[in-house]
Amino acid sequence: MSQTPTLVEELQRLEKDALQEVERSDTPESLEEVRISFLGRKDGRISGILRRLGSLDPEERPRVGQTANQVKARLQSALDRRREQLEQGSGEAQGAQWDLTLPARRSWVGGRHPVTRVVDELVAIFGTLGFTRARGPEAETEWYNFEALNTPLDHPAADEQDTLYLKGGHLLRSHTSPVQVRVMENHQPPIRVLAPGMVYRRDSYDATHTPGFAQLEGLVVDEGITFVDLKATLAEFARLYWGPGTRVRFRPSFFPFTEPSAEVDVKRVVRDSEGELRESDWLEIMGAGMVDPAVLDAAGIDSERYTGFAFGMGPGRIGLLKYGIPDLRLYLDNDVRFLQQFTQP
Ligand code: PHE
Repeated sequence: MSQTPTLVEELQRLEKDALQEVERSDTPESLEEVRISFLGRKDGRISGILRRLGSLDPEERPRVGQTANQVKARLQSALDRRREQLEQGSGEAQGAQWDLTLPARRSWVGGRHPVTRVVDELVAIFGTLGFTRARGPEAETEWYNFEALNTPLDHPAADEQDTLYLKGGHLLRSHTSPVQVRVMENHQPPIRVLAPGMVYRRDSYDATHTPGFAQLEGLVVDEGITFVDLKATLAEFARLYWGPGTRVRFRPSFFPFTEPSAEVDVKRVVRDSEGELRESDWLEIMGAGMVDPAVLDAAGIDSERYTGFAFGMGPGRIGLLKYGIPDLRLYLDNDVRFLQQFTQP
């Protein structure tokens, strides 16, 4: 017999080898090497066999040629299938695109900003003392921000609260006191309101200053309101917020819109690192005072008949104490890792 069975047999053996190597390839690169070593036109093993066709009887050539073509086709489809598998699994194989062992992503639950939480707590406490919440615009006029508050524009106090001026004669309010003027214009006493909101000042941006911050002011106007009411209200607030052992201190101060005026400090009872209760340092928490009669008059309230007191504090600073936050800028960075810590109710 001629060599014909041998060549066909060779092709069959070669196909078996090739299919095994295809299965063993685990990267697109090694698969390509298998392809070249079997199907490569110049040095491929199938080409090598076909080159020996010339030595066969002419009648036998077609059988070998046909077998070779079938082997090529099967090998090519095995290569294609394997390539597809490798590409699908490549995330895992290369550790790149997918990691099926990662925990699933949870849906987001929003939370109140820590400053908003403090504002809501303060509003709730003052609510028990009869205060309601009032709001006003952040873009104000000089009249409401300064002049109606007994602060002439050439007064140094107007410089101290230097702010950002907008086109058209408006400015960003430097405190929430203008809200109180607006309330007095629209309501006759008794008045008991809280005005929380953002205020703006020309200021640096560092751990203890930001050019925009939240403020919360309160106003009480009625017949017979005295400094005793101011002290009692603010001392009661401090004990409700920081606990019954909290002490309050009033230091004389100056604001154009109040007379007399005071800075209010608190001394809290805190646990030290050993877990022992002890008193904190005095900490300044707000400005306060009796509403200047000129402010009442400017807002259309009879200063002969009514008196009042007002106070203002920074919920952001109170939040620093409450949550042990080291830097005011964290409130404004919008870093989810920080804000996420306040998603619980
Ligand atoms: N408006 C003052 C400020 O922004 C705070 C304040 C309010 C002081 C009411 C006294 C009375 O600094």
